Amino acid sequence: MIHEIKNAVINHKMAQLRNKETLPKDFRSLVEEIAALLTYEVGKNFETRTIEFDTPIKTCRAEILDEKNFVVVPILRAGLAMADGVLKIFPNASTGHIGLYRDEKTFEPVEYYFKMPPHIDEKILLVVDPMLATGGSASAALKLLKDSGAKKIFFLCIISAPQGLRKLSNDHPDVEIYTAVIDEGLNDSCRIVPGLGDAGDRIFSTL
Ligand code: PRP
Repeated sequence: MIHEIKNAVINHKMAQLRNKETLPKDFRSLVEEIAALLTYEVGKNFETRTIEFDTPIKTCRAEILDEKNFVVVPILRAGLAMADGVLKIFPNASTGHIGLYRDEKTFEPVEYYFKMPPHIDEKILLVVDPMLATGGSASAALKLLKDSGAKKIFFLCIISAPQGLRKLSNDHPDVEIYTAVIDEGLNDSCRIVPGLGDAGDRIFSTL
């Protein structure tokens, strides 16, 4: 299932993110903020439990989430800035890291790092990467996680191409995808159009 989060706040922040004049410091902040907004949207799926405590006025019951049930999984490098945004919402969640880059000639994903916290089979995983272009990296990341036992996964990205959305939902129909925007498509270099450039390079100022 694909969720495109359309609202004025996201659109406003996307405009700044796309602009090539936006500086790395602001770009990172925007990625974090949009990741936090996506976490709010995906949070509508989560089950809560009821607790009872005293307010200054009287005893009340309230619904809470167990943050320890969540694992944020950034796909390196660009996913790191999104993970910071998710961790602003769930500061006590665990983090797992997947290192993947896209080969510049073949556009195929190349794995170089995989480190998860224990018991991911019992956790809700929020896999984050700002960009879903061909979908190769995200699909490979989800396969690695499932091969390690993960059962409940959400994929959060900021910008996606229809080609990547198709591939990811075909390869992993059980994973719900949250994207801030869906762009027109890919150019000959498999870059998202109109896109925002290379998120990793803009976050880490490695252009
Ligand atoms: C970018 C992006 C995704 C991937 C998307 O990473 O952050 O991981 O490409 O492309 P795909 O959907 O076609 O696989 P990149 O390979 O540039 O690595 P980086 O994050 O280290 O810059």
